[in-house]
Order: sequence, then C-alpha cells, then structure tokens
Amino acid sequence: MLKKWWHNTIGYQIYPKSFQDTNGDGIGDIRGVIRHLDDLQDLGINVIWLCPIYKSPMVDHGYDISDYDRIDPMFGTNEEMEELILEADKRGIKILMDLVVNHTSDQHEWFQKAMADPDSEYADYYIIKEGDGNNPPNNWRSIFGGSAWEKIGDTNKYYLHLFTKGQPDLNWENPKLREIIYDMVNRWLDMGLGGFRIDAISHLKKNFAYVNQPADGPDGLASAWDYFRNAKGLNVFLNELNEKTFKPHNALTIGEVDDVRPEELGEFIGDDGYFSTIFDFCHTQFHVKDKEWKDRPLEMIHELRERLFAKQDYAKGHGLMCNFTDNHDTSRSVERFIPEEYISFYSESLLASVNFFLRGIVFLYQGQEIGMRDYQKKSINEFLDLATFNNYNGYLLKGMTEEEALEKVNNECREHSRTPMQWNDRKNAGFTEGIPWFEVNPNYRRINYEAQKKDENSLLSYYKKMIALRKREDLEEAFIYGDTIPRYEDQDGIIAYERRYEGKRILAIHNCNAREIRLPLEDEIGEILLNNYEKLNVGEGNVVLSGFQSVITKLI
Ligand code: BGC
Repeated sequence: MLKKWWHNTIGYQIYPKSFQDTNGDGIGDIRGVIRHLDDLQDLGINVIWLCPIYKSPMVDHGYDISDYDRIDPMFGTNEEMEELILEADKRGIKILMDLVVNHTSDQHEWFQKAMADPDSEYADYYIIKEGDGNNPPNNWRSIFGGSAWEKIGDTNKYYLHLFTKGQPDLNWENPKLREIIYDMVNRWLDMGLGGFRIDAISHLKKNFAYVNQPADGPDGLASAWDYFRNAKGLNVFLNELNEKTFKPHNALTIGEVDDVRPEELGEFIGDDGYFSTIFDFCHTQFHVKDKEWKDRPLEMIHELRERLFAKQDYAKGHGLMCNFTDNHDTSRSVERFIPEEYISFYSESLLASVNFFLRGIVFLYQGQEIGMRDYQKKSINEFLDLATFNNYNGYLLKGMTEEEALEKVNNECREHSRTPMQWNDRKNAGFTEGIPWFEVNPNYRRINYEAQKKDENSLLSYYKKMIALRKREDLEEAFIYGDTIPRYEDQDGIIAYERRYEGKRILAIHNCNAREIRLPLEDEIGEILLNNYEKLNVGEGNVVLSGFQSVITKLI
C-alpha cells in the first residue's frame, strides 16, 4: 500500500446545525465551529467533516442543495468558510465538506428551469420518464418511503427521487452535467478544502431497465436496490469524478458506499481507487433493544465481532476502511450496543476502544466523545425528520399500534444523534442563547463537555488518551498499517485482536461481559499502553479482566 498524507487521519464529524450557535438564532453556524477549533485540536483530531452547509431549503437538513456554490446564510458566508479553512489549517486540521451530487433540491435553479420548460436542456439534468398508463414509470419505492416518482404537473411525466420528493435525482448519463459538477468540485478544492465525504454515491448509476418488481410491502411498492445501488457502470462515473477532481488535488475522499462487491473493493479504496476510503455500515446495524438481540446481548457481541473481523479481512490488501460507530444517520452507539443497565464509563470506553485500534481510518461523531445519549420522545410530533415520519407511517401500515411504532422509532431513528451538542451545564447546554432548533437533551447537566474536560477520568479524557496513543510516534505506523489478527475468538464476550507490524506486536483485549473473566495468557505482556481500569490483574499464565475492562498492551 502506498503511503498517503491522510493515512493518519483521526476524523471528527460535525453536524453544523447542532454544534454551536453564535448569533442566537438557535441554529449552529460556521463561527461556532471556529470557536471550538482549539477544543478539537486539544482532543487530537486532524480532520473535520462538515455535514452540508450549502444553500438549502432544508427538507432533508441540507442534503437537498439549491446552490452548490453558496453557503446557506443560516450557517454564515463563503468568506467565513474560507476563514474556517485557514484557522483549521493553523491547527493542523483539514476540513472536508459533504458532496451531495446524486440529487439536488427541487429549489435548485436547474430543476426549476426543467419544470418550467420540459423541453429545455435542464430537463436532461434530471431523470424524467413517461408514466405507465396512469401509473408512475415503475413501482420503485424511495429510500425514505413512498413512490420514487413524482408526477410533473398535469403531464404524464414523472421525475425520479430516490430520497424525498424535494431531492430530484441528477442524470449522470448527461456528460455536460457531469462537467458542470466537476468544475464545482474543483472550485471548492481550489479554495483549500482537504477533500469531501461523498453522499449517497453508490446511487449515481441507475439501471434503466425500469421494470416493475414484485411488491415487497403493503404499499404495493418494491425496494429495487439492485437497480440503483452499485449498478453496473457506476465505476465509469466514479473513475471520471476522481480523475477530474479528487486525484489532481490529492484530496481525502470518503465515499458513503455500502455492499461493494468484494472483487471490486480495490477499485474503490486501492492505491488508485475512486476514493481514499469508504464508510460502510455493516458493523453498525445492531440494536440491543431490537427483538432479535434483546434477550441475547452476548450473541450480538459475537455477531459484531464476526463482522468487524470479516471487514478487516476484506479490506486487507486493498486499503483502509473507516472505523466508526456513530454518524448523523444513526442513533447513538452507546444505546445501540450497551444494554441500558450496563451503560457506564467502563462500557462506553470499551466500546470506543474496540473500534479505535482496528486497522482503518478512525472517525468520531460530535458528542460521541462525551457519551451523548438518545433523547426518547413521548410523541411522534416531537420529531422533525421526514425519514422518521415515513418510517413511523410504514410501521403503522404494517399493523403496529401507535405505541409500538413510536417505540421502534424511539429506538432507531437517526434524529437522536442530531440533538444540540452539550457544551456545559448552563442554558441550552451552552449551544445557543436563543431557542434551539431541536430540543436539547435534558441530561446535559450531567453529560457535558466542560465537566468532562476538567475530569481526567472522564470519557472525554479517555478519548484523548486513545487518540494520543494512536498517534504515538513509535506506534503510529503499527496502528495504521499493521495486520489485524483476531485473538481469543473462542471466548464468550471477548473482542480481542493483535496488531502486528515490522516486529511490533500490540494486543487489544476487550471484555464485553459485565462479569469478570479469566483468560489464558499466550504471550508475555510488555508495556501497558492503555487500560480503562486502574490495574490489570496478571497472574501465572493468565490475566483476569473485570467487567467491561479494555486493555491495550505491547506483547513481547
Ligand atoms: C445522508 C443522509 C441523507 C441522504 C440523502 C445520506 O446518505 O447521510 O443524511 O438524508 O443521504 O442525501
């Protein structure tokens, strides 16, 4: 694997709307990110990914862009964005923006022109098809529920939207449109961005055999993933995008790509891949409160272990995947992986550590470092996201009661990760002087940044220690490039692995059981690099780990 500047990335994802408000309008802004750059430097991260801050009507919280070249006034100005890039750079931090080019907003000037004149060139920027008799062109379901097609006025034409109807899909088959997008991407990179996280990119290519699929739900629609995710021919677009934009800028790019065919992974993240790395969610889709795992938390850990190691194996010889647990599209990992009664500093630091020392690029999501939690709502009306409502209605349609549907949404909805950042124990957790756009979790008096910053035994302090360890000069390469060798796979509730690189051996052991566990020692333990308990109990040929103890140690 060729060495690249971004291999030592410890990334931090910011959801700008909820990070820090500085002008009292209740919405986070660019100035708020600038205000906290010193805190982020202190944490040790060196890359920030900002969720979209372009001009947008906010139907999907910024993932519906109406002008790619302008920052939305709710977040600030283009000049402030330049200032952020410069200020971050002074602290050794690169800024990534979100690149959303599978679709635009329906308020984008291109779409408005396409609707005003279906014979104009702009109509060919989008995917517009004749209806099938009185029906849409086919029965595809949008990813957010409902038909993926929206009728255009009183014509018999429809436009495709894989997400909400406010997000019409762009027609990547149109070479002129592709060039316009590349120019836009290059303008941002020329401004000094470190790169992009690239949204929904596996959907760019659609299989134009628009046939109806057998319905797979009571709505009569079908989730036709095979026709619009990783569809044949996607590689041509991804390659061109890379060659014309990312590659000449030596940018760090993170594709949001699930389910890449194993034989194609190298094309995605190899030395000359379309992207530097990818976010793949297969290891995040667990919830201890789900029917499937509720009474079998240990089996869930075993399944997680299997997926994590399979992923390490899968990426080996190709490149680096992203190690992450939290994101703006998931509920908080603490809630998903740890049974309620066991949530504590020990289990939280263990969960973080499992992920942290694997081979891959580490990414944190705002609030994860202080153990922010989901904010359970008492009524569906307290939510704000279209995706939540679509899911809720889908559950009702499947026959759940309102109570059951609310419980399910409360367990899994992505909005939980979007509550305002909890900076301190003062008004609105220090997020805003105004009225927050989304309610602050009342637990902020207990869980907040300021309190944890002062406490060297806090979760925040543990995150700092983990980052410092990954960056330790004599070990950094081992953590980045070392092989991952699973250990103690036959032990219940243990996730352990060795990292091995040029004669160096590091063992990471995580006891995911609430109870103490004794493990046979197969190697001699050297320097203990990190331990979430004060002591490590090493005996004659064995080691005893307390409940949720996690230890990173050198092996001799
Ligand atoms: C983003 C979501 C967004 C969707 C549509 C995703 O993958 O992460 O937040 O709703 O793309 O743009």
